[in-house]
Amino acid sequence: MTIRGKLTRSSGLMLLCLFLELLEARAGNIRYSVPEELDKGSFVGNIAQDLGLEPPELAQRGVRIVSRGRTQLFALNPRSGSLVTAGRIDREELCAQSARCLVSFNILVEDKMKLFPVEVEIIDINDNTPQFQLEELEFKMNEITTPGTRIPLPFGQDLDVGINSLQSYQLSSNPHFSLDVQQGVDGPQHPEMVLQSPLDREAAAVHHLVLTASDGGDPVRSGTLRIRVQVVDANDNPPAFTQAQYRTRISENVPLGTRLLIVNATDPDEGANGEVTYSFHNVDHRVAQIFQLNSYTGEIANKEPLDFEEYNMYSMEVQAQDGAGLMARAKVLVEVLDVNDNAPEVSITSVTTTVPENSPPGAIIALINVHDQDSEENGRTTCSIPGHLPFKLERLVDNYYRLVTERTLDRELTSEYNITVTATDQGTAALSTDSHIYLQVTDINDNPPAFHQDSYSAYVPENNPRGASIFSVKADDADSNENAQVTYSLVEDTIQGAPLSSYLSINSDTGVLYALRSFDYEQFRDLQLRVMARDSGNPPLSSNVSLSLFVLDQNDNTPEILYPAIPTDGSTGVELAPRSAEPGYLVTKVVAVDKDSGQNAWLSYRLLKASEPGLFTVGLHTGEVRTARVLLDRDALKQSLLVAVQDHGQPPLSATVTLTVAVADSIPDVLADLGSLESPVHPDDSGLTLYLVVAVAVVSCVFLAFVIVLLALRLRRWHSSRLLQAASGRLTSVPASHFVGVDGVRAFLQTYSHEVSLTADSRKSHLIFPQPNYADTLISQESCEKKDFVSAPQSLLEDEKETFSQVNFCNEFIIYLYEK
Ligand SMILES: *[C@@H]1O[C@H](CO)[C@@H](O)[C@H](O)[C@H]1NC(C)=O
Ligand SMILES: *[C@@H]1O[C@H](CO)[C@@H](O)[C@H](O)[C@H]1NC(C)=O
Ligand SMILES: *[C@@H]1O[C@H](CO)[C@@H](O)[C@H](O)[C@H]1NC(C)=O
Repeated sequence: MTIRGKLTRSSGLMLLCLFLELLEARAGNIRYSVPEELDKGSFVGNIAQDLGLEPPELAQRGVRIVSRGRTQLFALNPRSGSLVTAGRIDREELCAQSARCLVSFNILVEDKMKLFPVEVEIIDINDNTPQFQLEELEFKMNEITTPGTRIPLPFGQDLDVGINSLQSYQLSSNPHFSLDVQQGVDGPQHPEMVLQSPLDREAAAVHHLVLTASDGGDPVRSGTLRIRVQVVDANDNPPAFTQAQYRTRISENVPLGTRLLIVNATDPDEGANGEVTYSFHNVDHRVAQIFQLNSYTGEIANKEPLDFEEYNMYSMEVQAQDGAGLMARAKVLVEVLDVNDNAPEVSITSVTTTVPENSPPGAIIALINVHDQDSEENGRTTCSIPGHLPFKLERLVDNYYRLVTERTLDRELTSEYNITVTATDQGTAALSTDSHIYLQVTDINDNPPAFHQDSYSAYVPENNPRGASIFSVKADDADSNENAQVTYSLVEDTIQGAPLSSYLSINSDTGVLYALRSFDYEQFRDLQLRVMARDSGNPPLSSNVSLSLFVLDQNDNTPEILYPAIPTDGSTGVELAPRSAEPGYLVTKVVAVDKDSGQNAWLSYRLLKASEPGLFTVGLHTGEVRTARVLLDRDALKQSLLVAVQDHGQPPLSATVTLTVAVADSIPDVLADLGSLESPVHPDDSGLTLYLVVAVAVVSCVFLAFVIVLLALRLRRWHSSRLLQAASGRLTSVPASHFVGVDGVRAFLQTYSHEVSLTADSRKSHLIFPQPNYADTLISQESCEKKDFVSAPQSLLEDEKETFSQVNFCNEFIIYLYEK
């Protein structure tokens, strides 16, 4: 059993086969089997034995292998008488895929010419590895390929046969793919890849698989094929927004073109399938007007200004679309935040432009509404007016305000108001609006006319022309228009029995006073009247003022010489001067009066002409005629003197008188001398009496003047003390109006003297004006004083006044005595 020894790697089954073949060969053919790929000279079969020959006989009998032109695969080993391989035998080359590979040839035994067919079966060994034609297989598969789809795979090839041939395929494990091998009816297996689950390019774009083909040899040989499955993208993913809803809050004052928001949709697909463009979907025109969407970047910007007051929330839908038309939508909410960009608006709903000044507090002027378009604090408003105005704002509901008067108004104080109503909101940068309400205060006649002075004093020179304007008063009325139209009138009164209107008239429009008469100072010296001013309001208001009209003296009276009187019968009186008279002897006194007063009545006496110059002197102010030297015998008995009396008026007026002085020691002398003279008509003792009277009078006059001056001073002091007393305690006794400062005191004094005059007047009305027939010294004195007061110009000194008074009074007193 050499075969057996040679076939060390054969299985038991093969051996059994061999044995059966050998038995068969004995019966007819000679059959052998030999594994392929044995070295040259390997034993195939003991041919000698099978031919029934001894090994050496083979050569002797010319045994050889005959074949039909084929390369000899076998050879005979003559030494051992066995058939051996002539070279390496490759079964696959010989028989390809035939299941049995039989090489038949004949063995010729030459000597007998006998042919013995021999069959050698070449037994396969697993010397070939299954193989694929490709190393790697690559194919593309669309990701939307449905599961169950089969992809035929290339076959593997194993040249071996039988169990050594390709027996099975295996696919590396992959969740998406499985292997299914279809057993071909006659041929090889058909491996197929079956798609188990859907592919997802987005999950895995490439799958690497390995297909292994294995044979059944021992050891098993296998070959592999790398399979690369490229998943082709299908537009299986719609774009997806990163958020279902985008929301942004943005101030309304952002500039145009501000990027408000970016919407972002992603599409995992590839290429155009993953290219997302954005657009608005179903937006209303407002949104389309205001917002723009960048279709590539998804940026939403504002192309129009945002206005919180118009819309505070924009809702829009954005659509994302990929290149293949899949789309997704998302909602976008843009919330506009309020910015204090609106100033409050003030609307004045109703307004009266005028208000009477007497309207009570609370009178409604205007209704004001304040509105602010902003919201929250930005829209919360307050309304105010300047604090100093007599108005207030009353808050009503719903941002309505009422402007009412707070106090009573006074047109005379403020006739118009320009009320600034300020509305302010409470935003962080507060905005405010000013409105103006113009209000006029209408006049009510609440002011009487007011004179410029409390009282007026007017001075009018006497002898004024009739109709001359002598004074004017003026009253103002603080009201307006007809309420301020003042008319003047005189308060009716009677002066010395005649109505005031016969003395004076007043221009009702201008307040100018006209004299209707020519006043005579010597007739009356002052006039008290009241002027009334009345406005034209309804009802009218009036006021009056006292006016003291003083008539000023003018030098319109020439001095009147009372003594020596111009004789009525043509003769002149004769004065007596004794020859023994010392120098300075008072011969006589020229007595003159002047109805004027003051300077105009201040008389001075001058000796104009004398028959014996230097013999007599005349006292400048006294009018006393005195001797200037000792009388001499040669001096003529009858001396004639021309004395001029002149007042100090402007221009001065004068009068002259001629005195006749008889120079004699006694009356008889005179009488004796009269023969040579033009003797007086009645040479009675009246001349002597006259001398006495004159002498007594002069002395008394001086004394009395002294007493009266003293009395006057006393009276004056007593008067002022009474005034003070009255002022301190007994105010009721004197009209209160008399106590108004220094002027008041003066007015009182005036009034007082006036009253006294009136008292006298009522008793003896003709005595108020100095007339030759003086009857009452007191009256004269009062006249004196009053005259002093009234007519004294400021320039005169106090003692001068006193002198006038004395002189005047003396004159008058002398006259009085003389009259008696
Ligand atoms: C969109 O969202 C994706 C995923 O969150 C991110 O990677 C990408 O950068 C975003 N694109 C933009 C423009 O923000
Ligand atoms: C009120 O005052 C304002 C500002 O001072 C001014 O502009 C306006 O003209 C005034 N109104 C009247 C009616 O005078
Ligand atoms: C003049 O005014 C005074 C007070 O000023 C008043 O008492 C008097 O009645 C007035 N006289 C007239 C006539 O109006």
